[in-house]
This record gives sequence, C-alpha cells and structure tokens, in this order.
Amino acid sequence: MDAIVDPKDFPASQKCTYLNAANVALMYQGAEKAIIEWQKDLAENGSINFDETAEATVFGGLHSAAARLLNAQPEDIAVGSSATELISSLAWAVAPEFGTSVVSTDIVFPSTLYPWLRVARHTNCEIRLAKGQNGYANPDDVIQLIDNRTAVVCVSHVEYGGGQRYDLLKMADVAHEHDALLVVDATQSAGAIPIDAPACGVDALVSGGYKWLCGPFGAAVMYLAPHLQNELDPGLVGFRSHKDMWDLQADRLELPTTAQRFEYSTMAYGCAIGLARSIEYLVDISVVRIFSYNKHLANLLIEGLEKRNVEIISWKLSRLVMIQSRPPLWLHGFRERIRRKWLENLRRLKLWFHGERILSGFLPTFTTSQLIFNKLWTELTKFYNSTMFYSFVSSTDDTYI
Ligand SMILES: Cc1ncc(COP(=O)(O)O)c(C=O)c1O
Repeated sequence: MDAIVDPKDFPASQKCTYLNAANVALMYQGAEKAIIEWQKDLAENGSINFDETAEATVFGGLHSAAARLLNAQPEDIAVGSSATELISSLAWAVAPEFGTSVVSTDIVFPSTLYPWLRVARHTNCEIRLAKGQNGYANPDDVIQLIDNRTAVVCVSHVEYGGGQRYDLLKMADVAHEHDALLVVDATQSAGAIPIDAPACGVDALVSGGYKWLCGPFGAAVMYLAPHLQNELDPGLVGFRSHKDMWDLQADRLELPTTAQRFEYSTMAYGCAIGLARSIEYLVDISVVRIFSYNKHLANLLIEGLEKRNVEIISWKLSRLVMIQSRPPLWLHGFRERIRRKWLENLRRLKLWFHGERILSGFLPTFTTSQLIFNKLWTELTKFYNSTMFYSFVSSTDDTYI
C-alpha cells in the first residue's frame, strides 16, 4: 500500500515507527522550517523585518488556513497559544450563570472541562457529566442531561481516552433546541477527520496544533460562529484585543467584531506561521483522503492483529483497536516475570484507528518491554509492509510507541 505523503515531509519517520500522534505528532517539515526561519530572523534582526505591519497581519495565513480546514471564513477564526487558553477565554466570556448548567462527560480530557469548572466555582452554575464506562460515554447519556437550564454543552469531538467520536450535528441540534451553545474541543480530530464547522452547527470549536494538525506547540485555533462574534466579551484581553492593536490607549478597549476579538497578546508568532503551513499541507492532501486512508489502515491492522493471536477488545464500530492479554506465541519462551510485565504493559497499550486516533498510551519504562514491543512491531511491520500516514510503519528496528 502506497503512502499518501512523501516520507521526506516527515523526516523522523525514516528512522523510527511513530505511533503517538494523539499525544504529539511528528511535525510537517515545511512547518518546522517556517518556524525556525521566523525565529532566527527575529533573534537576529528584532523588529527590522518584523515591523508593526508584519505583527498586525501575522495571523492572516493561519486565519485563512484554518478557515479552509473548517469550511469557514477567515474572520470566524481566532488564534491563540493553546487550546486551553482559547477554551478558558471562551468559558469566561460565556460565564454560565447560577441556575444554568454545563453538560459534558467524565471521560473528557481535563483541559476541555477545567475552564468550565473554574467558571462554575465563580458563578455556581451546575456541571453535569455523563458517566463513561470502560472509556466510552454513550452520546444518549450526554443528550439526556441537556435541558432548558443548559447553557453550554462542551464535548471533545473525539475522546482522548477511547477514541469515540460524537455526531456534532446531532449534538448541536439538541443543544440549540434548548438554547444552549455547543462548544467542541477538536484537538483529537482536526486534521484527521473532516469537519465542516458551519454545517454541523457548532457554536465554537477549538483545536491545538501539535497533534493531527502536524504543527508545533504554541499555536491553536478557534472557530467562533458568526452569531457570537460581536457578542462575547473574551475572558483574556491585552493590547492586541483592541480593534486597532496599535491604538495603545489604555483607557479604551474596543473589540473587533470578528472572532479575532479573542486574540490578545504577543505570542510565539512563528508557531502560528508554522501551523498555517501544516494545515495548508493537510488541506492540500485533503482531510477526506487522510480519513479514508487511515480507516483502511485501521481495518488492515485489525485483521492483522486478529490473525496474530491478539484479542481486539475494543468497540469495533469505531474501529478503535485495543489489544489485550494473550501474549503471542513467541513470548512463551520468556521468563514468568517478563511475561507478567508484558501483560501489565499490554493492558495499557491501546491503538486507536479510524483516523480518529492512533496512539499508544504505553511508554516503556524498562528495556525489556521495549525489546518485546520492538519484536511485536517488527512482526507487524513485516505483515503490513506499508507506510502509514501518521504512524509510519517502516522497516527499521528503532521503534517509538
Ligand atoms: C482533547 C484534548 N484537548 C486539549 C489537549 C491539550 O490541550 P493543551 O495543548 O492546551 O494543553 C489535549 C491533549 O491531549 C486533548 O486530548
């Protein structure tokens, strides 16, 4: 099976098998270059090249790239330094009042929910969480918690723990029937799963840049639906918050009438430039294509694992792959202590496919387990002999999982 990208665009993929995009992805080389060049120029030339006009327009490329990714307009996009920062500013802007509720799940990534918990400590709004079981939250349980008192439904498009994906259109419909906002953390899906933000009706959608978007730490984006752009008062403000950032009059703050009112301060601008490059790169390949390619690989892996005496215990519909117990035959020769370690560690090894998540939650802490896993992956590599888009299965020995 041919790769859909040139492995040279991800040079590290040639020296190891990388399966950890759901934590930190390998960065697209074009993004890396842009960031290094920008940083070098700033370090060596200060504001000679990065002048006032350059600083005022520095997010333009990322506004356009993220708009292409989400089928939105550049003015619907705000840039920040992290997903948490954008969600926090949004949570304080919405500030659900006493008597209202925020609905989410108890298996969501903490950064998606903590900002709302913090606001709830201040306003005493209620936090209602659907309970997950074995890393899975039934979407109907989330929906049942939504009622006329709900101000915000906040979910992670793809749950970081189990890889399940919510139907955003359905969630938005229910939220809107009750006059609630749907806020989505797309950090585990943007770049791997096609998202049409206006069509699926989300009110706000945030994504960090360093996972499936193949960008750097230090830059994130938020889509804000047009009806909120002139309404919300961001929780975080700074000199960039003024509609003319060079106004610099501390006694007046007039916000832009676009999503860009959530942009407020000096940041590692080079990271935003790099993230724009990596998003353009993915959109040029087509996220629809990436999604279907990853689904195909997921099916291949599931098939291959099943043939290899590995039990798939996960929720098959999502093509989430969790492998557990039953050490492969070649492990039987190992001493009991090592076999036990294998089982212990294997329980923590999860691989999510479906283009949703390809991850190993397992980080080897001792050499033997590394060796064991290398062996497993060498076996898998022989079987697949293919280059994955994100999780490059190469024929080298050095394996990172
Ligand atoms: C769903 C989700 N949101 C947010 C984050 C991280 O947010 P930040 O980059 O702001 O720390 C993660 C990281 O794993 C995540 O899975």
